Amino acid sequence: MRYRVFLILFAVATMIGSVMAAEPSVIPTPRRYVASEGEFTITAKCRISAESAELCDAANYLASHLGIGIADKGGDITLRVDASLAREEYRLTVEQDRVVIAGGGYGGVINGITTLYELLPPSVYNTLVLPATVDCCTIEDSPRFEHRGFMLDVCRTWITKEAVMEFIDLLAYHKINKLRLHLTDDEAWRLEIKSHPELAMVGGFRGGDSPIWARYGKWSEKWGGYYTQEDMREMIAHARARNIEIMPEIDLPGHSLAMASMHPEILCSYKPDLSSTFGYDTRSAFCASKESNYELLSDILTEVCELFDTEYIHIGGDEVETSQWKRCPECKALMAAKGYTAPEQLQAYFMTRLADILAACGKRPAVWNEAIDGGRLPESTVVYGWEGVKECREAAARGYKVVVMPGQYFYFDMKQSSHEPGHDWAAIFDWRKVYGVTPAALGFTQQEQRNILGFEASFFSEAYASRNPEKPDYLHYQTFPRIVALSEVAWSGSDSRDERSFYKRMVAHYDRLDCMGVAYRLMPPVVTYENGKLSASVDDGATLYVHEVGSDVWRNYTEPITTSSPDCYLFVSRRGKALSRDVAHASYSKRLTPQFTLSSSMPQHPTMTFAKAQNYGRLARTSRTCDVGDWILYTFAQPVTCRRMVLSTGNFQLPRFIFEQGYAEISYDGKTFVHGGQLKNGAIIIDNPNRPIKAVRLVCTSRGNGDRFVSIQPPVIYPKHR
Ligand code: ACM
Ligand code: ZN
Repeated sequence: MRYRVFLILFAVATMIGSVMAAEPSVIPTPRRYVASEGEFTITAKCRISAESAELCDAANYLASHLGIGIADKGGDITLRVDASLAREEYRLTVEQDRVVIAGGGYGGVINGITTLYELLPPSVYNTLVLPATVDCCTIEDSPRFEHRGFMLDVCRTWITKEAVMEFIDLLAYHKINKLRLHLTDDEAWRLEIKSHPELAMVGGFRGGDSPIWARYGKWSEKWGGYYTQEDMREMIAHARARNIEIMPEIDLPGHSLAMASMHPEILCSYKPDLSSTFGYDTRSAFCASKESNYELLSDILTEVCELFDTEYIHIGGDEVETSQWKRCPECKALMAAKGYTAPEQLQAYFMTRLADILAACGKRPAVWNEAIDGGRLPESTVVYGWEGVKECREAAARGYKVVVMPGQYFYFDMKQSSHEPGHDWAAIFDWRKVYGVTPAALGFTQQEQRNILGFEASFFSEAYASRNPEKPDYLHYQTFPRIVALSEVAWSGSDSRDERSFYKRMVAHYDRLDCMGVAYRLMPPVVTYENGKLSASVDDGATLYVHEVGSDVWRNYTEPITTSSPDCYLFVSRRGKALSRDVAHASYSKRLTPQFTLSSSMPQHPTMTFAKAQNYGRLARTSRTCDVGDWILYTFAQPVTCRRMVLSTGNFQLPRFIFEQGYAEISYDGKTFVHGGQLKNGAIIIDNPNRPIKAVRLVCTSRGNGDRFVSIQPPVIYPKHR
């Protein structure tokens, strides 16, 4: 009797289970998901068919992931355009004997395919193991924002065509539909222009015999590359097949040092002061008064317009060093003739001239937010707000369509916590801050919200070049899982946020990221020390490793460590290619701040004086660049006992304003110095010195650094353990 009751209960539970299969954790959250009974099984015999020729690429894309063939018609998985749906909207119907993906247009079908991948085992992202099942359901879904973008800076770090295409695949899996390539900047020109081939062939490389100086850690070699127009067409097609539009950015009129290094005639006619830079002209803006500049830019932009099928071409407009125009007799004359009183007006003039060139090619301008400061640009201009929410709101209030990407939320080159790589000038934030974004939470009024086209994240790559850019690990670490959160906020219609529940879904999504081969960032392990026991934990299925100071190995962490020295252990977690930063008990990161004096063969900057570094405040600066034999001397009031001392020229996290080449000398008595090693990216790390250090001298062995000064950081000194 009891056995029969059990059987009935079991049957009912199984039925409920199959009808009400748990809603899968699809990111971004679909608008409507309805489960139904049963499952569809994909076997090697299944076929995909596209109901119209325009969906051929979509069918191939799906087939390549499912590992099955394509049939002209009557396939088990049907792709269809349904004119009753909006362009990117889709309806995905999974029944026991068939799957239908209907989209309003090509993009809608791809969005449906992307969701289908998430209903399948994660192996779909490398090699799907067949047979594979999908629970029956209907999903009706459409994006909240038409612009779900990502900007990749391929200038500061050269990123190959193949690597960009691999990254496009990852963006597509997250329903990102725009990729802006930042193709020109001070450090490189990355796109072939057939009418001016030298731009890419020369300007795609820096260092060595290139007129563009080495930068960002790539000092000893000529380094770089560029995309031929054929390469770009291949990338555009690859992206388009995945519902991603590649938009070019030619950053003008500032950020043009690479161009000016090849073509100094684009610059204003006044002679710059070259003495503090050994003849290096650091001016980076096109002269606004030279008609020849507009002719050159017309050649360039016309080719760009022909190559790209986008409605918009991004023409930059950020951070223009307008002091150059204030010193140029011709720019001053132009301003007087036009009745301009501010250089921003001259920039508006410049951008309008470029907008005219684009209009003649049937294109519209997209610009960074500063470009609208000096006057009205054509109504069709799209403004990319990066400086802050305020600038985004102002542009929206002035009637421009806006892509919202303030650095404080969307610059994924920023650090994710204070002890991680990246920059911090905009903010330090991880995926949680991105996930918290809604137009209302950012303070947009209803009226302003109507002008939001969507969100875009960016990855500026200054700090990537010195971090083994031949592998995508740094790019991945900085951008994932922040892109997962971007995907949710840019797609999902909801303004409500539940961070805990999103985190659980994101951890489920980690299985997919693992199969995609993404080296994403895991949340740091939580480390506690209580009653003599040091413990670490994670909640994301990752494996914990521990490293004891003085040992070379990381071993599996399995249980709390009984110790009286919690500062002697470091923990990391890993799963797949993903990893967390290393974490220690708070006592690990204690620093020493011994009194010292800073002196140098180079004079100090009048305001960023050596005292700033001496006081362990902000960094100090010299008032000229460095030459062979220049030195910086740190003399400690008392010899310092430590486990590590780091002395750095340049910016933290970014090899710039540094001694490009040099060495350190260490003194234990303040009188005699011994060799202390070569500088790496402008810094020396002295580990486990066997005696207290009285002084360290950094000596420069290279001429100049491409800038007007050298930055000097306060020392970073760690106490000895135990
Ligand atoms: C920018 O970050 N300069 C757009
Ligand atoms: Zn000028």
